[in-house]
Amino acid sequence: MRVAAISIFPEMFRAITDYGVSGRAVSEGHLVLDCINPRTFTHDRHRTVDDRPYGGGPGMVMKAEPLEAAIDEAVERVGGEAKVICLSPQGRVLDQAMVESLAEEPGLVLLSGRYEGIDERVLESWVDEEISIGDYVLSGGELAAMVLVDAVVRQIPGVLGHSQSAVEDSFADGLLDCPHYTRPEAHRGSRVPEVLLGGDHERIRRWRLKQSLQRTLIRRPELLQERELTAEEQRLLAE
Ligand code: ADE
Repeated sequence: MRVAAISIFPEMFRAITDYGVSGRAVSEGHLVLDCINPRTFTHDRHRTVDDRPYGGGPGMVMKAEPLEAAIDEAVERVGGEAKVICLSPQGRVLDQAMVESLAEEPGLVLLSGRYEGIDERVLESWVDEEISIGDYVLSGGELAAMVLVDAVVRQIPGVLGHSQSAVEDSFADGLLDCPHYTRPEAHRGSRVPEVLLGGDHERIRRWRLKQSLQRTLIRRPELLQERELTAEEQRLLAE
């Protein structure tokens, strides 16, 4: 997958290109991430990307021209066919279903704003979708863009090893993850549940599923509303 990130702080994206699962996706060629700085497309001495808002008020607004030139360049870099997404708290809140559908796109252009916002005319004419990562305000779209890339990259076939398939991820089946344990068996008086020590894979599968169901019911009951329970799941929750 090709992703072009537009940002006045392109170095921030090292957090995903240099570390962990996304870093390996880059070094193995599953993800090509280009960063494009809109300042490159300014022509004045100060390389101005922002200006005062019409109508007054605090803060600055990102100017249309450098952003539009950056989007043009970004679309070309990802191969001419790309969904242009602006990260913004005004957007649709990202969830796992959106992540899975974005992973099917051949290319993504991610526009990260700073200051009070982006000239609305860019959003109207150049952006396909605005996406938020949650109902809180960050100081810029970069962290949100990285969250999106990290979640999407996990879905690209071959990025996760066999032992950590994305199918096993929390949310992949609409439920929260079950608890996990590693050695030692007893830690500060708390023991690993007996079922996990026995090696009966079917019993372990049922135990994990039940834990996931109970956790989801207690912590995020609305997730169960959005999903039909299988006969086995209903039984496990009732027992
Ligand atoms: N930019 C600032 N806050 C944001 C958020 N919550 N989601 C996406 N982009 C943002």
